[in-house]
Amino acid sequence: MTENPPVRRLSDWSPKRLRALAGEHGTPLYVLDPDRVRENAARLRGAFPEADVSYALKANTTRAVLETVESTGLGAECASAGEVQRAIDAGFPAHRVRYTAVNPPARDLDHVVELAQSHDFVLTIGALDTLDRLLDRGYAGRLCVRVNPGVGAGHHAKVTTGDAPQFGVPYDRAAGVCARIRTETPALDLVGLHAHAGSGISGEDLSAHRELVRRMGALGSEVGGLDFVAVGGGFGVPYRPDEPPLDLDAVAEETREAFEGCDAQLAIEPGRYLVADCGVLLMSVTAVKPTPETTVIGVDAGMTTLLRPALYDAVHEIRSLTEENDRVDRSCLIAGPICETADVLDRDRSLPDPQRGDVLAVGNAGAYGYEMASQYNSRPRPAVVSATGERIARRETVSDLTRLER
Ligand code: LLP
Repeated sequence: MTENPPVRRLSDWSPKRLRALAGEHGTPLYVLDPDRVRENAARLRGAFPEADVSYALKANTTRAVLETVESTGLGAECASAGEVQRAIDAGFPAHRVRYTAVNPPARDLDHVVELAQSHDFVLTIGALDTLDRLLDRGYAGRLCVRVNPGVGAGHHAKVTTGDAPQFGVPYDRAAGVCARIRTETPALDLVGLHAHAGSGISGEDLSAHRELVRRMGALGSEVGGLDFVAVGGGFGVPYRPDEPPLDLDAVAEETREAFEGCDAQLAIEPGRYLVADCGVLLMSVTAVKPTPETTVIGVDAGMTTLLRPALYDAVHEIRSLTEENDRVDRSCLIAGPICETADVLDRDRSLPDPQRGDVLAVGNAGAYGYEMASQYNSRPRPAVVSATGERIARRETVSDLTRLER
């Protein structure tokens, strides 16, 4: 049996290899290892053998990741028409693709209804209003209803979804909505229910997740005649080096227990869990500035490269890849090149006396890293390569920034 540890820590990546990639491709640079995506998929499948497992594309939509996930047999959970198109382009068979529409723009509905004429995927609606808009466009395929389960969890208030009114049909109304769909729109095939508690669920939030599964299982039984009940994604990963990984088997066991009595298939749709530890971000030290409070380390990656620290106060492990091991550790504030106070990757990180030109590695950057990168401050987005050095996405140039205006 091949070894498949529950987490790949930043210290498990070869510094030599990462230094070589930074030297060859420049920084900032995302490095993604598709083999690790495969391992994560295998662990999920092992823990949830009876479940229908889909990958939530929003965590990382690079083609290399999508093709790897597809090859493991997982489905695709999409949040936009663009993601649906990417999933299909990457080879996901349509019957394994779901589109969960959140306040969908007209263009998204036009696109997916058009695609649905030749592809049999599942559309998930979170409001009857969306159903009307689908019917206006002549949609007559498989349908799933997103429910607001009234219970949320997550690593930050901004990603705690389950009790936020913008998502899903209120729990108490969901059975009625399903009954109405069945009687009033017989052309549609109601196949599933959906809910999502939030993102980055840790061991501490498991009771909220269990409650969500219990409620959804009960609702699934009440509605009856469904193919699946999706209980979302959200499985957290350890961002701090001393944080234990989620006990996936325990989560699976709890989920199964909470779902007992529901005869629809359990469906899960993790994003982060599949891709977070398949990626690191490499960046170079561009400036070292002693100040009375701390040593400010300027780097060539910032909130436009990795938004999570600025947006969610997220902590990512950061290590120096320097070979010189006689340097004294120094407490540093690591800041990017963006003219915003929020552009700090870490306020208090101990690093071996950083010098200009050193390469630093940021761990767990495979999920919501490159995916949330922007061109703010007219910064071209970074390159992405595989761990073996193949190009996944080329580095943008300054002329890419104005391409759409010409
Ligand atoms: N399903 C639905 C309906 C979702 O909204 C999400 C994430 C997922 C599945 C996948 O959640 P995951 O397994 O990746 O936690 N940008 C934030 C995370 C936002 C997640 C939004 N929805 C971050 O960087 O932490």
